[in-house]
Amino acid sequence: MKYLEKKLFDKGFAKGSFVILSPEDLEELRTILKIMRQEEMESNLITAQESLYVLGKNKRLDQIIEKILLNGEIKKTLEKTSGKNYALHADCAARFSDPDDKGLYIHQDAVGETTFSFLVTDQKEGTTACIPGSHLLIPFKNVRIAEFLSFASSRLLRFTKFFLSPLKGLAGEYYFFFNRLFHGRITGNKKNTQISLFFNFYPVALPENKEMVEVLKQKTLKLKDNYQNINSNYLKNLTSHEIYKKNIDIFNKSDERTPISLNLLSFFNFIKSPIFYFSALIKILILELIFWPIYVLRIVTKLKKKFI
Ligand SMILES: [Fe+2]
Repeated sequence: MKYLEKKLFDKGFAKGSFVILSPEDLEELRTILKIMRQEEMESNLITAQESLYVLGKNKRLDQIIEKILLNGEIKKTLEKTSGKNYALHADCAARFSDPDDKGLYIHQDAVGETTFSFLVTDQKEGTTACIPGSHLLIPFKNVRIAEFLSFASSRLLRFTKFFLSPLKGLAGEYYFFFNRLFHGRITGNKKNTQISLFFNFYPVALPENKEMVEVLKQKTLKLKDNYQNINSNYLKNLTSHEIYKKNIDIFNKSDERTPISLNLLSFFNFIKSPIFYFSALIKILILELIFWPIYVLRIVTKLKKKFI
């Protein structure tokens, strides 16, 4: 396994600092996103807590996003995590973490999903944070155990954040992470609003790829008229359910190997990556040990609501 592949497999995330955008492009990207958010908030289209969908709304923004996702280094890494002909969910979003951001509880997302997160502003303390190696722990694809744990609450982030690794970086740097990783968004003493772009990728080798065709279609419908307006054939093809459907046929006839994002579910991860496996397990057990009374409290509150 090569270095980046190994790092991604072991930790569940990897940072890249290859220069993709010029300082001018980066500044333009920041400005467009800030104005777009302001306008949508003023028109009551989104609240301050909601992410901003980015595709098909601004020609220049589409071009900049195309430039990021067409970058050779990015494509090469995504081919490793998700295989050839990977698909992108059309609801790509910019997330703004304001100084009063309440954070997002620790959770896990779907099997096979890889997120590419591009930092639009400096994030010296990090906003997304995770437990490295935690993606190796649960070998069952339909089980997302993170959200059932006692510490999975945004109110507890001010305590749990000391156990998490923040994805720190400077504007223009980027991260890949597997969404099976226990991850969330930390609160912090941020002075400025921090902006990140999020892109969610899925492999064509996904066992449920037929269902993914419908999911991709729904994602494009979410963008309404903006989808037709996307100023990039590359982005349109990457998010198209029809192209994905064609790619399934190509994949079925090929001898392409299983990408890393689908190789994570294994009972033997503790042998493949013992240090990260056990350090994640120990961290989670300690957090459970500290916060188990919260779990009991939650059950009591639920029962009270039901019977009183
Ligand atoms: Fe997530």
